[in-house]
Amino acid sequence: MKESELKPQKPEKDYSKYFDFSDAKVLSRDENTTTYRIKGRIVNINSAPDHKQEKKRGKEDIEVHYDFSIPEELRTMGIGKRYLIQTYGCQMNEHDTEVMRGMFEQMGYVSTDDRKAADVILLNTCAIRENAEDKVFGELGHLKTLKTEKPDLLIGVCGCMSQEESVVGRILQKHAFIDLLFGTHNIHRLPHLLQSAYFSKELVVEVWSKEGDIIENLPKKREGMRAWVNIMYGCDKFCTYCIVPYTRGKERSRRPEDVIAEVRELARQGFKEVTLLGQNVNAYGKDFEDIQYRFGDLMADMSKIDIPRVRFMTSHPRDFDDHLIEVLATRGNLVEHIHLPVQSGSTEILKRMSRKYTREAFLTLSDKIKAAIPDVMLTSDIIVGFPGETDEQFEDTLTLVKEVGFDFAYSFIYSPREGTPAAGMEDNVPLEVKKARLQRLNDLLAANAREKNEQLRGQIVEVLIEGESKNNASVLSGRTRTNKLVHLEGPKEWIGSFIQARVTEAQTWYIKAEALEKPAQEAAV
Ligand code: SAH
Ligand code: SF4
Ligand code: F3S
Repeated sequence: MKESELKPQKPEKDYSKYFDFSDAKVLSRDENTTTYRIKGRIVNINSAPDHKQEKKRGKEDIEVHYDFSIPEELRTMGIGKRYLIQTYGCQMNEHDTEVMRGMFEQMGYVSTDDRKAADVILLNTCAIRENAEDKVFGELGHLKTLKTEKPDLLIGVCGCMSQEESVVGRILQKHAFIDLLFGTHNIHRLPHLLQSAYFSKELVVEVWSKEGDIIENLPKKREGMRAWVNIMYGCDKFCTYCIVPYTRGKERSRRPEDVIAEVRELARQGFKEVTLLGQNVNAYGKDFEDIQYRFGDLMADMSKIDIPRVRFMTSHPRDFDDHLIEVLATRGNLVEHIHLPVQSGSTEILKRMSRKYTREAFLTLSDKIKAAIPDVMLTSDIIVGFPGETDEQFEDTLTLVKEVGFDFAYSFIYSPREGTPAAGMEDNVPLEVKKARLQRLNDLLAANAREKNEQLRGQIVEVLIEGESKNNASVLSGRTRTNKLVHLEGPKEWIGSFIQARVTEAQTWYIKAEALEKPAQEAAV
């Protein structure tokens, strides 16, 4: 199947139901594209996000496409041109950026960090909280000035914000100076979309709402010694506060043989660490109809690959089964770090978040993990100020954090997201209360982190040296197997090596250590 045939949905021809186009005029419609004039700007819409489609989870087969390639005629499009991608949000987005970088470079573009030198600028956006979106709208304001100075500059918006009807509407009304708007399901269309934007000089909008497909063999431009590998896409959990199931589509797993082949290749290229990515990696394989193969099985296969460290992000407490714990307890290259977002310590709030586990179930799970892997580092995500959260329910979160003893957690103030069930709940916790709760939680998390780091003093840890410390070139920085940041003195030739080191000092967010030996020639496993 040709890449151009991958289009999963018949395009709508009339987009007026999605957006307020009161001042827009339809210029033409054909099978693929509706062309509007909006405030003097010509806009070609190939497809636009549709929340109704995004909510649907069909049973249709997931198709895996192995024949992606950039057509010959587009492979010279970027010669002499520079691209810049600004990335917001999670590792999933960071990794999508690596894929887009791969495509840009196959088209002859070179990368730049200098906006003034760039011929194409893409904003790969995040929709998780309102402040993430505000940053992007602020940035669009700056880019408008740049575009006025340099009219040939192509500006594109992609990523999770593009999958939201309201955002697309707002961009078309207020930021129509951009040239390109595409979603998370049609990243592989980048070469064609760039070509259309260059060719027409008009704004091209193409956001597919629903995607049952997996595209293999996309080029990827990775850097450094740590690599991300997608094992699955999308999310079917529909936590009531969260936009991700709408922006990333239904859960679909890559075939095990494709994941294993990619990790083997990364090992061959000399990468020291891989992080397996998915919104909830322990749902991996649930969608396979022909084989019984789950995340525990994949981790068992990972442990047989000659790559020093394997991590994963993010696991969901609900699907964390005993087999997975058993496999992780075998250690080897499977490191002792589990990111396990709890969100709240109150069973009532968890219920309204639709997390499908109770406080007690979470505590039982963390005890089980600690019993199997006593030196495990548990980290988490926590939301404060969910609609209706009482003081007492917030206290439940604090006591859970103390009881589990997370080494680290990302903490957030609840942010209503249009179209999610929680956005319809009464957001009755005043902002000052939310801020005060966040402060108390952060103080507790910092105290926990410090205490955990103190416990490491005198212990010997394996550090993967990643680079020079930002503030002091004679100090190197690296990570333990548990992902703790370590500073230690040593020559920069050690960068990329594993060093055994004794912990000498504990700070809240990092530890200091002294090297015990020179690194081995080969990376230690
Ligand atoms: N798939 C991951 C999380 C992805 S989003 C998981 O389920 O664990 C990362 C984190 O952002 C979430 O864990 C949650 O803590 C936070 N988050 C998501 N939606 C939010 C919202 N509307 N307001 C505040 N925080 C939110
Ligand atoms: Fe969002 Fe929940 Fe899915 Fe995580 S599991 S991405 S929080 S809906
Ligand atoms: Fe943001 Fe999308 Fe990731 S909303 S957190 S970039 S999946």
